[in-house]
Amino acid sequence: MRIIELDSTGSTNAEARHFAQQADFGPLWVRADQQTNGRGRNGRNWVSPKGNLYASHLFATDEPLHRLGLYSFVAAIAVYDTLVGLHPKGSWGLKWPNDLLLGKAKISGMLLETGKTHHQSWVIMGIGINLISHPSDTPYPATSLAVHMPQAPSPQHVLTELSGVFDSWRTEFKTKGFTPIRSAWLERAINLPGKVTVRLAQETFNGEAIDLCENGALQVRLSNGTMRDVHAGDVYLG
Ligand code: BTN
Repeated sequence: MRIIELDSTGSTNAEARHFAQQADFGPLWVRADQQTNGRGRNGRNWVSPKGNLYASHLFATDEPLHRLGLYSFVAAIAVYDTLVGLHPKGSWGLKWPNDLLLGKAKISGMLLETGKTHHQSWVIMGIGINLISHPSDTPYPATSLAVHMPQAPSPQHVLTELSGVFDSWRTEFKTKGFTPIRSAWLERAINLPGKVTVRLAQETFNGEAIDLCENGALQVRLSNGTMRDVHAGDVYLG
């Protein structure tokens, strides 16, 4: 696998996009030691000091546009399996759609970007993993691997492992579709079924998360019994 390593960049997602714009669809990874303009979900920043993993995976796909979001779950499973391999005793769990929790605090986040250039659809899966440090002022409590093990692995080592695991799950999705991905995600999910608070841009509501739909939405039962499918937003457990 081609891996482009940078000392510092604004955002590895933006770097990967430059390749797609020049009709180079990889597959490739861009990794940076630090980011000066790291991007998170829903317009948030991703603070990116040295020592953690900041990497973006670019690949071409023939999946129809409406299914590209399902790669979020492919990535979540791959990151989960990679980190379980590095720290098997941890209390790991996935939170919809692709946050990885360790001991109920967030250790990894992913930012999916998709596009079509030169008649080719592509996906950029940006992945941040807190290895040696984590922010303290986040909406969701955060942690890092160093809190849980004597010596956290290097970003280079984690990416080498992740790249192989991601490839296997990507092939699984390509050959067998979303069904095995959905099952694998559900097996690794925390608090499902379980009480959640859902924050959307315009409203916040409580309910019980019930299931992961075939289209990737989170199915939530409201207190009046109505079912609601959540396609975007932030989910808080409990
Ligand atoms: C989230 O908000 O949970 C998603 C965070 C994604 C951060 C990663 S770090 C590598 C890649 N480059 C970015 O600018 N963002 C993603």
